[in-house]
Amino acid sequence: MKRLRLAHWLVVCSACGPIAWFSPAPAAAAENQQAAQSAPAAELERTRQDFVKNFQRIGLNTTPGDAAFLRIMVEISGAQRGVEVGTATGYGAIHMGCGFERNAGHLTTIEIDPRMAEAARQNIAGMKLEKSISIVQGDALKVIPKLEGQFDFVFLDAVKRDYLKYFKGLEPLLKPGTVIIADNVIQSAREMQDFFDAVRQDPNYRMVILRASDEKKDGMAVIYKLK
Ligand SMILES: C[S@@+](CC[C@H](N)C(=O)[O-])C[C@H]1O[C@@H](n2cnc3c(N)ncnc32)[C@H](O)[C@@H]1O
Repeated sequence: MKRLRLAHWLVVCSACGPIAWFSPAPAAAAENQQAAQSAPAAELERTRQDFVKNFQRIGLNTTPGDAAFLRIMVEISGAQRGVEVGTATGYGAIHMGCGFERNAGHLTTIEIDPRMAEAARQNIAGMKLEKSISIVQGDALKVIPKLEGQFDFVFLDAVKRDYLKYFKGLEPLLKPGTVIIADNVIQSAREMQDFFDAVRQDPNYRMVILRASDEKKDGMAVIYKLK
């Protein structure tokens, strides 16, 4: 009798279609919908992974380890508005750009050499990061005074002896909590001694020097603006 009742229930329900019979149906439908929505995201992720894998780095570019470190710093700081001084072909920028995209933020990157700026523009397009990164082609010493609004993330990587000038130009625009990363601080330490002195003497800043990658036997300063 029990079997009969069950059979009947199944017949009735199968006539109603799988939605009525199959209790997890709404969840399954939601999952299918989610899968359909995330397919382009997965495709984009694959495109980006391939792009980074095949990126033709030049000697000026940051190393993969340093670029990964930059992205992590963008993401964990939750930075919203970043500026990079010295783009080259955009290897660091595309990594930071992924972080800024995730934070719903934006990176402005400044490059003096028009050919480098053009190559970076193409690489940013190849990564589909045009909405998250803007390139300004020009001399950072002239571009920085024209920047508007506040920033909370800085990557200094252009002329080493000019780090202090970039820093002084950007300083009034930096929010408390800003993270400043300066590259090549071991190999080019002498050229940026005035920059180190200025940061160390300023009670608003804390600085550590670390090496995220062994490739160039160099290091980065991570500077935090307290207030
Ligand atoms: C070490 S590379 C930058 C590497 C890049 N940050 C990366 O992650 O791949 C330095 C770049 O700074 C640029 N540069 C030099 N002087 C500059 C200036 N005054 N303003 C803007 N860019 C400058 C150079 O043309 C060069 O492409």
